[in-house]
Amino acid sequence: MTAATRRKTRYACLECGTPAPKWSGRCDGCGEWNTIVEEPVSADPVVVTSPVSPAQPITEVSGLDATPLPTGISELDRVLGGGLVPGSVTLVGGEPGVGKSTLLLQVLAEPARRGATVLYLSAEESAQQVRRRAERLGALHDNLFLAAETNLGNVLGHIDELSPSIVVVDSVQTVFDPDLASAPGSVGQVRQCAHRLVTMAKQRGIAVLLVGHVTKEGSLAGPRVLEHVVDTVLSFEGDRHHALRLVRAVKHRFGSTQELGLFAMGESGLEAVADPSEMFLADRRPGIAGSIVVPTLEGHRPLVIELQALVAPGGPHPRRSVSGVDPGRVGLLLAVIERRVGLQVLNLDVYAMAVGGARVTEPAADLGLALAVVSSLSGVPVPADVVVFGEVGLGGELRSVGGVERRLAEAARLGFARAVVPRSAPAGNAPLDVLRVPTVDAAIELLGLRE
Ligand code: TYD
Ligand code: MG
Repeated sequence: MTAATRRKTRYACLECGTPAPKWSGRCDGCGEWNTIVEEPVSADPVVVTSPVSPAQPITEVSGLDATPLPTGISELDRVLGGGLVPGSVTLVGGEPGVGKSTLLLQVLAEPARRGATVLYLSAEESAQQVRRRAERLGALHDNLFLAAETNLGNVLGHIDELSPSIVVVDSVQTVFDPDLASAPGSVGQVRQCAHRLVTMAKQRGIAVLLVGHVTKEGSLAGPRVLEHVVDTVLSFEGDRHHALRLVRAVKHRFGSTQELGLFAMGESGLEAVADPSEMFLADRRPGIAGSIVVPTLEGHRPLVIELQALVAPGGPHPRRSVSGVDPGRVGLLLAVIERRVGLQVLNLDVYAMAVGGARVTEPAADLGLALAVVSSLSGVPVPADVVVFGEVGLGGELRSVGGVERRLAEAARLGFARAVVPRSAPAGNAPLDVLRVPTVDAAIELLGLRE
């Protein structure tokens, strides 16, 4: 037997497929960095067999086999389009500490209460730690099984023995296959572990949830490859200093990626936020210069939030400090205010934020940000019954944005009486006064925001 046939694993480049004798930082084939991964060598070549289920005309294939099982957590079921599909694999990505373990323990609790057998495999924390969290969450049920396990073989063994309907693996980066020489969390390990779990899920019709840590930049640590292997990728986001947590589908084979789930992290776990707009506006003090209300859209979901700006005399290098809004966009809007509206702002320190841990990146918030800056500059508050939205162009013109009707309806529901919108916004039958304006300047005049 030669050395090559004895080896159980090999190394190859993810990008171009060039084999490598051992791990190396750079591929000799294509010159890319960090693309060499270890993978198992399958001993036998694939043999042609007669398939169990033959190919069918597409018209005879049933479209109805992906019936989701509700998790009982309404905000999550909303994002999943009903619940977890048996045989599917869902990756839940989020920064450390955001609440992934908490969410997934809660996800298992409700089906367990209803009598389903579910399994939580903890590869990061001890069984005692998970139990203590479950006590806090009210998730102690006899049908919720728990094992602390990092070895992939044992993980698969637990699933095989118990045959649960839902499995959580927390996290996919800490489970490892001892047959691979690379360290847990490396691209090769994560790929191999995910691949084996996906195969198991499909064969047994088990819904599998994988926890994945993401880096500050938002990508999964190491394995982007994972996103291709799984059916659904959920992103779990939130700011450590606020209770608000958002769940959205980045990829979803069984439905829309336009839904948003909202939770608040509390003393006994995550609670659904049924009326987020009301939450965002709860502490608002009307009549303050620099504050403005903007109906934003997250996918299909309207969220009415408060934006604030504060300007102060700056030194030779004026400060720009933002939170929850796009700093590049704020810079652009300051230039538009100075050059198109004729108000001096580029020499000022400017602070801008979205209140309550909200994060707004859509251009529809442009008009709100611009008017908040102008209001802070003049000291004239925006009237309390007004919302505004619209994208601002470099010429100071206002451009229409999507979802006008939804935004207006949500603002009206919360009791706002007037909306300032771009001139070209489609006419709807909104239950509030819609004031159409062509430019930022015209919006400033209409609201009387100049000194
Ligand atoms: P955790 O689920 O461990 O996060 P992750 O698995 O994403 O790393 O939860 C992290 C934080 O949530 C932790 O700092 C404590 C807080 N927390 C609460 O505020 N309330 C709770 O009921 C629980 C269980 C956690
Ligand atoms: Mg965790």
